[in-house]
Amino acid sequence: MENFLIKGGTPLRGEVAISGAKNAVLPIMAATLLTAEPCVIRRVPQLSDVRFMGEILASLGAKVKLDGSTLTVRAAGVKGLGDYNLIRKMRGSVCILGPLLARSGHAVVSLPGGCVIGARPIDLHLKGLEALGAKVRIDGGYIHARARKLKGADLFLGGRCGPTVLGTANVMMAAALADGVTVIESAACEPEVVDLAHFLNNMGARITGAGSPTLIITGVKSLHGAEHEVIPDRIEAATFAVAAAATRGEVVLRGARADHMHAVLDKLRQAGVTVERSGPDLKISRRGRLKPVDITTLPYAGFPTDVQAQMMVLMTLTPGISIITERIFESRFMHVSELARLGADIAIEGPSAIVKGGKPLSGAPVMASDLRASAALIIAGLAARGKTEISRIYHIDRGYEKIDDKLRRLGARMERVQADTSKEPRSGFRQKAAIGP
Ligand code: EPZ
Repeated sequence: MENFLIKGGTPLRGEVAISGAKNAVLPIMAATLLTAEPCVIRRVPQLSDVRFMGEILASLGAKVKLDGSTLTVRAAGVKGLGDYNLIRKMRGSVCILGPLLARSGHAVVSLPGGCVIGARPIDLHLKGLEALGAKVRIDGGYIHARARKLKGADLFLGGRCGPTVLGTANVMMAAALADGVTVIESAACEPEVVDLAHFLNNMGARITGAGSPTLIITGVKSLHGAEHEVIPDRIEAATFAVAAAATRGEVVLRGARADHMHAVLDKLRQAGVTVERSGPDLKISRRGRLKPVDITTLPYAGFPTDVQAQMMVLMTLTPGISIITERIFESRFMHVSELARLGADIAIEGPSAIVKGGKPLSGAPVMASDLRASAALIIAGLAARGKTEISRIYHIDRGYEKIDDKLRRLGARMERVQADTSKEPRSGFRQKAAIGP
């Protein structure tokens, strides 16, 4: 097992190329199950989640080939039942349910368990598929879904925290091959949902309204193969932007889409970070003092929950009080206890964290609990005095492509070292650490 060893205090400088978006490529890979023809997907990030999804598609009978960042999938024949252990391990794989059901009339998919950031039920996914006429039952840890022919329907997909991203993706993919028209109200508007709709339309689907709360899908008889380039990862770009600000650096985010990051860039500007254009790219720099800002995570186009932990680190470095409220996932403050080990002063009050910032962080051994918490710990280590050692970094390889190479090219003093498990820090969430969202 590997750890990251970071010597803090170096301002990040230079250019970093933003990879394709993990949360766009996973549902797009699932969508390839909707056709027997080959699909070619470009700018695919090399992540363990992508590898997992590839193995899941192969366990369903598809031919999968990843050549650099180009992925070719041909699902000539699909079995309704995939590898339980693989699917159970990665929550994102739940989005094979809709395509499998639409393509073969039945699907048996393992129920994704909860994870460290929340219970994460899939009731809205199932509600949507049942509205299209599917018969769904949960049995033995599996979702059993059956429908001779899905039928278009009008449905409302909003839940207790608003829209669902993968729920919208699942129902949209199923409706693409249904009889008639489906109207999804309170659909998720995330850029990753829009990218999936573009891919489906490239395959011959008829989807309008992507990016708005009202999605209209006119079902077609069949879909054909298609080629597609995945959008850049706005969460990876935001992570590097915060790292540049936290280290008083200057970084150009090559290929980042500013139009997908308005809420994050707005908060960075409010905090006193300089956000500029550099040709088609974004340049992030910080010279002066930071100002405290309050943040509430919301569905898109609000502030993304996947950047909450990273921004919390920036606020620990900022003199004054800032309040960070998590409205999407009920237990997404796992990083707080680890940041406290680096000397941060953060109190949790219900869904909010009250950050008393301004005291310098000092390096310490810490443990990653989930993907975005790990990214936050890396930023904290880069900004802290002395050495920080982060264990369980497999969490980060799930969602960031070669993050340590990219950071070293920006001047970070950081290396992957073999973990000495006897030295692992004692911390409350040890039991819960499993492969996440
Ligand atoms: C996607 O998860 C992302 N994952 C998450 O990114 C991201 O945090 C999340 O959207 C919100 O933006 C992928 O795309 C693979 P949701 P998803 O369904 O679709 C509740 C990362 O770090 N809900 O939009 O699973 C749910 O519990 C990951 O890359 C229901 O109640 O999230 C949550 O509170 C983490 N019932 C809220 O809705 C349902 O049926 C939003 O969840 C579905 C969801």
